[in-house]
Amino acid sequence: MAVRSRITGVGGFVPSRVVTNHDLAAMMDTSDEWIVERTGIQQRHWAGPDDSPSGFALEAANAALTAANVAKEDIDLLLVATLSPDHFFPGTACFLQAKMGISEIPALDIRQQCTGFIYGTSIADQFIRTGMYEKVLVIGSEIHSKGLDKTDAGRDVTVLFGDGAGAIVMEATDVESTDDSQVFSTHLHADGSGADALWLSSPGMAHPDGLVTHAHLDRGDQYPKMNGRAVYVNAVKRMSEGIHDALAANEVTIDDVDLFFFHQANLRINEAVAQRLQIPAGKVYNTIQKFGNTTAATIPLGMKEAVEDGTLQPGMLVACAAFGSGFTWGSMLIRW
Ligand code: ACO
Repeated sequence: MAVRSRITGVGGFVPSRVVTNHDLAAMMDTSDEWIVERTGIQQRHWAGPDDSPSGFALEAANAALTAANVAKEDIDLLLVATLSPDHFFPGTACFLQAKMGISEIPALDIRQQCTGFIYGTSIADQFIRTGMYEKVLVIGSEIHSKGLDKTDAGRDVTVLFGDGAGAIVMEATDVESTDDSQVFSTHLHADGSGADALWLSSPGMAHPDGLVTHAHLDRGDQYPKMNGRAVYVNAVKRMSEGIHDALAANEVTIDDVDLFFFHQANLRINEAVAQRLQIPAGKVYNTIQKFGNTTAATIPLGMKEAVEDGTLQPGMLVACAAFGSGFTWGSMLIRW
């Protein structure tokens, strides 16, 4: 017998406002045809003015707690992955903790963008394996829509992103065999030499002229900037490597895996990864068509969808991989 972590509940949340590609075409010089052909995205959800990432996190966390049948008072650690925090400081996990009405447990933000959920799951897994904590909430929550450039200048980035949150409850479990529900392994990487290929420059303390200035705003430094080609090429390479890492570490093959959750940046990226690894299309669970890229929320939101529609069943062997700004990437293999 060994102590491992397992996912005991999953929840998700998206705001009610649906923004179609046609809606975007009314705001900027783009088209449904261009967006669908290049990315696979058909629509995304956008937050309302009073919404916050911690508010979305609360919705997803409550749903995951209910699914796991765990009381919020029993959670030992709160992890929130987000690239769109409520405020510059303190962390969004602290705002969430106050909203949940629980106090004194540690609350930690993870700033690994699209890979944030995998980093969070890995951190939770380490704490549970060592016996330090028994129940951990891992949440990815994002509001992109308030921070995107909705003019022609921002069209390459703005059409890609959507708002939402996803959460899991992870609990300690005694496992006897690989058939038992558990997290087998997690694999984390980063290459900071790609940091400015997808980034948001201001506000930032590295600026000689201050955190955020009129000059920054005039240049549009408050909007995300992306080298789309560099992101595309690295995402295909690194997510493929990530799946190899997870399979090799556990001596299993593509055929042994029942379902793959890839980060949803672009349907073409995921199709290229599946082709490279010779994964049948039916084993890759894609949600980008209706949610766009929800960065750290993507994988738990996808898991929640897959549970609800019956695709994700107990006992399945599940591989996940993500790639994002940083560059960061990671993967994991779990028995659901
Ligand atoms: N609508 C219409 N035209 C557009 C748009 C748009 N939204 N955005 C760019 N264009 C134009 C460009 O201006 C360019 O025009 P030009 O030929 O007259 O100069 C043309 O379309 C082609 O632009 P490219 O950037 O070369 O298009 P590409 O085929 O590379 O596709 C894309 C762009 C979809 C962003 C691609 O590079 C990509 O998928 N990259 C990966 C980036 C990604 O998925 N990021 C998500 C966030 S990162 C993450 O989560 C890992």
